[in-house]
Amino acid sequence: MSHSSSWSSKIGFVLAAAGSAIGLGAIWKFPYTAGTNGGAIFVLLFVIFTIIVALPVQLAEFYIGRTGGKNAIDSFKTLRPGSLWPWVGRIGVAACFILLSFYSVVGGWVLNYVVHSFTGEIAPNVDFGALFEKTISNPTSSILYQGLFMLITIWVVKGGISDGIEKANRYLMPALFILFIVLAIRSLTLPGAMEGVSFLLKPDWSKIKSETMLTALGQAFFALSIGVSAMITYASYLGKDQDMFRSGNIIMWMNLLVSLLAGLVIFPAVFALGATPSQGPGLIFVVLPAVFMKIPSGNYLFAVFMMLVVFATLTSAFSMLETVIAATIRQDERKRSRHTWVIGIAIFIVGIPSALSFGVWSDVLIFNKSIFDLWDYIITAIIMPLCALSISIFTGWIQDRQSVLTNAGMGSTVPKTLLYLWLGALRYIAPIAIIVVFINSLQII
Ligand code: PFF
Repeated sequence: MSHSSSWSSKIGFVLAAAGSAIGLGAIWKFPYTAGTNGGAIFVLLFVIFTIIVALPVQLAEFYIGRTGGKNAIDSFKTLRPGSLWPWVGRIGVAACFILLSFYSVVGGWVLNYVVHSFTGEIAPNVDFGALFEKTISNPTSSILYQGLFMLITIWVVKGGISDGIEKANRYLMPALFILFIVLAIRSLTLPGAMEGVSFLLKPDWSKIKSETMLTALGQAFFALSIGVSAMITYASYLGKDQDMFRSGNIIMWMNLLVSLLAGLVIFPAVFALGATPSQGPGLIFVVLPAVFMKIPSGNYLFAVFMMLVVFATLTSAFSMLETVIAATIRQDERKRSRHTWVIGIAIFIVGIPSALSFGVWSDVLIFNKSIFDLWDYIITAIIMPLCALSISIFTGWIQDRQSVLTNAGMGSTVPKTLLYLWLGALRYIAPIAIIVVFINSLQII
């Protein structure tokens, strides 16, 4: 059976894929990793890797999804019947299941912070380090908010592609951009803000380390949602008359823009108010509220910021859940509602140990990592790079070159040379970069 559902408009796919890309990666991980990895030099590497490695792989996922026209596993089956390639789809689907199980934990924290900012817990003279610790270690509220986050995700994905995901993104994404621009203006006009801007944009070459490269490549993959079949799934709802190259390009720039905007909201404020940029994962939960408290009406601005993070996190979560649902309903839309409930609840349950790993289960360590960190490591450091590598080899070397060019080029008006450049990047640059970085990362543990 082929798809009965598809995006109802040109912009639908772009917004949904951009919604998937822009999430905790851009707003939470990017600023703190830039902060702990020397600032501008990391930003520069991240931009380069996004353009020459992550974008080509993302486009390859679009090609596989749109040409296969089904969920991630069946798309591989259509393109290569009787081969082992559908395993790349299976692993991706499983990875989305696990990824959402712990992504929703952080989504829950963010929801909790929105509530905090309305209940007076975000106020001047609060010890934000203690508040963050209390928020993430409390088992009841962590699980409750994680559940609430999953409930919203289930509700939207249950509605289907055009009525659920597309509609939600159509409101949430523009709202996110507007809120971001308001906040960036506020932050950039603080006295002393320029120090933050130069931290973010003026590279200090002495800070370059091989570890910085690894982190930047990992960030580029995570940020474009590649390697876990999500983009294959979203592209399967994309018409052959649509220009996937143009869409990919817009999505990439939107993602880079939001990452930079996140940096431009956070770092000028951090520097202007004398905080340290290398705070780590607590940056937006600990440093940022403290910084906002020193600005007039800061508590409202902080509430706005947290709402914006909720939007971004939800639109990423939709794509993870959709990838799993698409694979289990196998194009039979009548099953969508029931499957979304059952699988969504299963993901929530599997995520509970991750939620508890910041509190009551913090001493449960496997390979020296907490449950949350272990899942994160397996997905982002192992599965994402290996699946991205497989996808670039599949598209660049296994599939017939002419057929790839014809299918990917459908509906596109980009010059032929760009298509060849894309294939070249998939054949050489992406695999080499991924292998080098992967081998290096194994040595670091
Ligand atoms: N790109 C998302 C972010 O940066 O937060 C994370 C993500 C979403 C990864 C969806 C993978 C995925 F399938």
